[in-house]
Parts: sequence; structure tokens; C-alpha cells
Amino acid sequence: MIRDCAFLNRLEGKVALITGGAKGIGEVTARVFHQHGAKVVIADIEDDLGHLVCKDFGKNAASYVHCDVSKEVDVKNAVDATVAKFGKLDIMFNNAGIVDPWKSNITNNDEADFEKVLGVNVKGVFLGTKHAARVMVPVKRGSIINNGSISSVIGGIASHAYVASKHAVLGLTKNAAAELGQYGIRVNCISSFVLASSLTTNFISKDDNEIESWARRLANLKGVVLTAEDLALAALYLGSDESGYVSGHNFVLDGGFSIVNPSFGLFKQNP
Ligand SMILES: NC(=O)c1ccc[n+]([C@@H]2O[C@H](COP(=O)([O-])OP(=O)(O)OC[C@H]3O[C@@H](n4cnc5c(N)ncnc54)[C@H](O)[C@@H]3O)[C@@H](O)[C@H]2O)c1
Repeated sequence: MIRDCAFLNRLEGKVALITGGAKGIGEVTARVFHQHGAKVVIADIEDDLGHLVCKDFGKNAASYVHCDVSKEVDVKNAVDATVAKFGKLDIMFNNAGIVDPWKSNITNNDEADFEKVLGVNVKGVFLGTKHAARVMVPVKRGSIINNGSISSVIGGIASHAYVASKHAVLGLTKNAAAELGQYGIRVNCISSFVLASSLTTNFISKDDNEIESWARRLANLKGVVLTAEDLALAALYLGSDESGYVSGHNFVLDGGFSIVNPSFGLFKQNP
């Protein structure tokens, strides 16, 4: 259920490609983009789920393409399929991401896991940016949005591979914004706090409720819980013309978590 929004159709006439859109944050973003008038293409490896989401939107408003973001041929095909179906690409949401199983010591971390995470989280964003730019540069417009994490700015909250990958996503965002600004193309990153999804449940081996109460306890901002829709609304802003002068920005969506060092305890209330 997507919450009502006073200003509808903020993406009217736009075409968006969302990687990892078959479930989690990507799926909710697809629903919000659709609600706001965009044509949506979902690119994922979960074909059945991806088709199911698109079915809700109707075939004139959405389409699914199989795409492993770590494979250039797939990403190129996803971009080309979007342009073939809807005539253009306005918004590229590089959202697909994975995390490796939690191992507390770097000495236990596997090379293969590290490479897999960087292959999806970093190479996937690189390939998505490259092929989106290929079709956006000639028309001199477009918005590329990368899904980072607060792991793009701080350490100590996820695996080495994941934190390294998300710092790299932010670096790639800045470098792509530096290059693509000359063509009127904006490139931004969203870096959010933790929320329950299959990614987090796999990583911490807890169910959605446990993750939610864990997140509530750790959060700086109390009384609210981050949802996938909060991320989708940030992506909506960055994809819409309302953010027309925003580029190279890291939209940190964490309720102030990453700007506080709680060890000092200066503002801690007595229970
Ligand atoms: N859940 C969180 O707490 C959180 C917080 C900050 C950022 N993020 C980021 O948000 C993004 C989405 O995460 P989520 O929580 O929705 O996870 P999720 O596991 O619910 O969804 C991830 C989606 O990506 C797809 N995917 C995985 N590997 C792929 C590949 N190689 N090619 C194409 N698609 C692939 C999956 O099939 C799935 O549909 C990730 O980049 C993640 O790092 C998540």
C-alpha cells in the first residue's frame, strides 16, 4: 500500500528503468514511480516476481526484462529494451544490490564473496551508469540515481565487502556527475539507514520484526521507522524535475544516524 501524495503525476511523461525492481526497495519504487505517471521497466534476475509486479501496472505502462547487473550484455540489453519499448530513458535507478553472509573476522572473509558483492554493487552501478549515459548523452537530459547506503559514509555497520562497495558507489556517483553534468545529466546517490528486506534478513539472520525493533533501538530519530517507501520518495524527488539543479549529491536518509557519535552520550535522556 503506497501512501497518498498531495502532488500526483510528478513523473508524468517520464520513462524509468529500475534494476532490482522485482522486490524490496526497487519494487516499492516501481510502484511509486508508476503512481506518479512514469512508464517503468523492471530489470532483475527474479523473473517471476518481476513479471508479477509489472502485471499490476498493465503492459502499456510497464515491462520486465531479465538482467543480471554484473553482466554488461544484460545491462546493455535492459537499456536498449527500455528505449525500444517506450522510446527513451529519463531515469535510471541503479538499485540492485546484495550483501555477503556476516563473518566477524576479515580473516574468515572469502575472496569469492567479496568479488560477488563488488560485482553486483559496484560493477552493476558502473554498467548501469555507462549504458544509461549512452542513451542520455545524445538527448542531453536524464537522471541517474544510485542506491548507496549509510555504509557509503561510515564503517562498522556491515561487512567489509558491502561497506567497500557502497563507498565505491558514492565515488562513482561523484565522478559520473562530474563528467555527465556537461550534458545536463544529473547523477545522485541515496544513502539510507537499515530497513527490513530480504537483503537485511539474509545478512543478520533475523526476521522482519526483529530487524525493525533492532533498527528502532539503534536509530537516532525516534518514533518513526524507515520504510522502503521513504527511499522511493527520495528517488521520486531525484527523478523528477523538482530536483533539476541537484547533482553529485549524497541524499543521506538516516534520521541523523551517521552524524552522531553516541559514545559521548551528551543528549541521552535518563530512562
Ligand atoms: N535494506 C536495507 O536496509 C538497505 C539500506 C540501504 C541501502 N540498501 C540498498 O538498497 C538496494 C535494494 O536492497 P533491498 O533491501 O531492497 O534488497 P532486496 O534483496 O529486497 O532486493 C534486491 C533486489 O535486487 C535483485 N538483484 C540481486 N542481485 C541482482 C543482480 N545481479 N542483477 C539484478 N538484480 C539483482 C534481487 O533479485 C532483488 O529483487 C541495495 O542496493 C541495497 O544495498 C538497502
